[in-house]
Amino acid sequence: MADMQYRRCGKSGVLLPEISLGLWHNFGGGADTETCRAMIAKAMELGICHFDLADNYGPPPGSAEECFGRLLKNDFAARRDEMFISTKAGHLMWPGPYGDWGSRKHLLAGLDQSLRRLQLDYVDVFYSHRPDPNTPLEETIGALVHAVRSGKALYAGLSKYPPSQFNRACEMLREEKVPCLLHQFRYNLLDRACEKAQLPDVEEQQTGSIVFSPLAQGMLTGKYLNGMPTVSRAADESSVFLDANKVEADAVRVAEYQKIATEAGMSLTQLALRWLLRRDEITSVLIGARTVEQLEQCASASGQEALPDDVLAAIDAVQA
Ligand SMILES: NC(=O)c1ccc[n+]([C@@H]2O[C@H](COP(=O)([O-])OP(=O)(O)OC[C@H]3O[C@@H](n4cnc5c(N)ncnc54)[C@H](OP(=O)(O)O)[C@@H]3O)[C@@H](O)[C@H]2O)c1
Repeated sequence: MADMQYRRCGKSGVLLPEISLGLWHNFGGGADTETCRAMIAKAMELGICHFDLADNYGPPPGSAEECFGRLLKNDFAARRDEMFISTKAGHLMWPGPYGDWGSRKHLLAGLDQSLRRLQLDYVDVFYSHRPDPNTPLEETIGALVHAVRSGKALYAGLSKYPPSQFNRACEMLREEKVPCLLHQFRYNLLDRACEKAQLPDVEEQQTGSIVFSPLAQGMLTGKYLNGMPTVSRAADESSVFLDANKVEADAVRVAEYQKIATEAGMSLTQLALRWLLRRDEITSVLIGARTVEQLEQCASASGQEALPDDVLAAIDAVQA
């Protein structure tokens, strides 16, 4: 396996691994602690030093941060400075008018709760998890600035911002001398919308970018092409963003990509990840993993040769 490669996050001093590990799934209340510990240990061994969390990851919400916080304290405390840890606030966390969205009240209380669950004094990045149509952007951005100035976060990040708000938010952050470190959004072979939306702005604003669901939650491994595996995200009733209907809707395109991968002599997982890494504006590809083996397979996409032009052309020919 090639060594993990690192890319600079925009114009900042931060390098991120080409493959980062997200804890949206597989680290919640029902997760096996030994498997979680083994995945974090393997990630560090492979050079995957960036761990992406959010307050609502689980299920139940908060449990992924609790799991990671316990492991960090018990097994990896001495390695804190080798790790780059992010969290986010902005999705529903607690009842009442302050438990959701992008107010200063919600974001700063959310960050404090995250730090308690993570058993940390600070995170490396604190994100606004999503734009809030009903809160002035100035207020949301002011909360990120406060989080950094108070020392509870080293950098500020934005997640899922549409272009106009992303550009304004970056300007506001720059004026406060707390530049946006990176933008987080979805990008994979089945969803190329960001090529016209977020990616041009990331380059314009000179921020980093980290792209999530690179395997379309597992569909782009080809695992659903021969039926529904019993142990898989789509078969798991607690995972509400992927089910049999979604798998079926994308099956034809996945099969076409599988054929391209087979002809190119690689797995579909490799094709999907290496295709994302072709773009210099992408700082890191943010995967999820259920097992150490999945993590290893994903990590091996870093440091590979560029995909040949005929493979890229075949991918572009697949109808959206
Ligand atoms: N900002 C946001 O709003 C937002 C939204 C979504 C995600 N994210 C971040 O992005 C991270 C990654 O998202 P994601 O989990 O959707 O990423 P993904 O990499 O597209 O999907 C991960 C899932 O694919 C399957 N998989 C991964 N590697 C595999 C392999 N080698 N062979 C077979 N199956 C494999 C596993 O599912 P099964 O084995 O369970 O089938 C795994 O849990 C999240 O953890 C989170 O940090 C952020």
